[in-house]
Amino acid sequence: MSNAIDGLEGVVAAETVLSEVDGAAGRLVIRGFPVEVLAGRRAYEEVLRLLWDGFFEPLPDDLGPALGQARASVFQEVAALDGGLRSLTPIEAARALTARIADGDGLEVALRLVAAPAVFVPAVVRAKAGFAPVPPDPKSSHAADILRMIRGEAAPAALAGALDAYLVTIIDHGLNASTFAARVVASTRAGLASAVLAGISALKGPLHGGAPGPVIEMLDAIGDASNATAWLEAALDRGDRLMGFGHRVYKVRDPRADALKAVIRGLARDGAALPGRLALAEAVENAALDVLRARKPGRSLDVNVELYTALLLEALDFPPDAFTGVFAMGRAGGWIAHAREQVLGGRLIRPQSRYVGPRPLEAA
Ligand code: ACO
Repeated sequence: MSNAIDGLEGVVAAETVLSEVDGAAGRLVIRGFPVEVLAGRRAYEEVLRLLWDGFFEPLPDDLGPALGQARASVFQEVAALDGGLRSLTPIEAARALTARIADGDGLEVALRLVAAPAVFVPAVVRAKAGFAPVPPDPKSSHAADILRMIRGEAAPAALAGALDAYLVTIIDHGLNASTFAARVVASTRAGLASAVLAGISALKGPLHGGAPGPVIEMLDAIGDASNATAWLEAALDRGDRLMGFGHRVYKVRDPRADALKAVIRGLARDGAALPGRLALAEAVENAALDVLRARKPGRSLDVNVELYTALLLEALDFPPDAFTGVFAMGRAGGWIAHAREQVLGGRLIRPQSRYVGPRPLEAA
């Protein structure tokens, strides 16, 4: 048997019509549209419709009303948010509540699973802060309702637009770790809830969607641009990874970083984000790229989506421990599309391992 491929790097494990990640060109295409054409111009509900086209029959032209109903329907699960769940991180508590949703393969289950993190993460954040959960407004747009549920009052339209742009930017991204996990589970025909739970579990790790919370810790610890290089050098000396940098596929800038930076610039112009914070992040980015070039000369390490995700979600007043949950709100749409694609056209995913342990006689 051939040697195992470490981390499955470069292995093509699925064909997909959903998204293309071009790591050399730094380009992300979602069902034919470059991400920067969709982000900030199309609502999450519209891009969800685009992604799910052909995977559910029938699929309404406008998914907004049904998604609103799904938010209202999953809200009843929030009653199960007891003290034990409140002691978990928002993504862990939201995962536990999502596990209450029954498996299935139809559109109704799919919409409930997109609604789940959008409803559960705000409820958990509020419960941890000692506030009662706010029920969804089925008539609201998805992004505006998420902000309303977390704040307890309607957010300015600019903030809802910024969250919408974020959710669209991260809705799908090829065969990333969480999407692969979702596809593996879907390939067993376990159902969409099981696939989404696998996606959430893979997403929460710091090497994947768990990175933006620690980005805030990094920015706070650096404090001032003049400290950046020394702080980053010390982190690498300790053997730490710089959160928000490096990517398995992108060998150049992650295009989502600039899509999100444009959104943050818009918020700063409107006075909704602190301009000093963006300047600090840009200074840290430049210092980190210099340090990484010097310390890892053979590697092409650049900024990934998470540095500016952290800044954007901070400007929208999400607490850092909820950032991964907000990522799940957007990516759930992608996991479900991939799960359906896998079920409709794929086989059981079952690779092999190469045994390198003792032979039976040696072990005896
Ligand atoms: N900081 C410092 N060194 C790094 C970083 C980083 N952020 N990323 C990679 N490297 C180094 C590794 O130490 C390694 O160096 P070595 O060969 O001298 O030991 C080399 O680059 C290759 O690293 P791998 O782990 O093999 O690269 P891989 O493709 O597996 O990692 C990953 C990709 C996990 C994203 C990595 O770059 C990383 O840990 N980044 C920080 C966490 C992060 O930002 N995660 C979010 C990613 S985006 C997303 O998932 C939504």
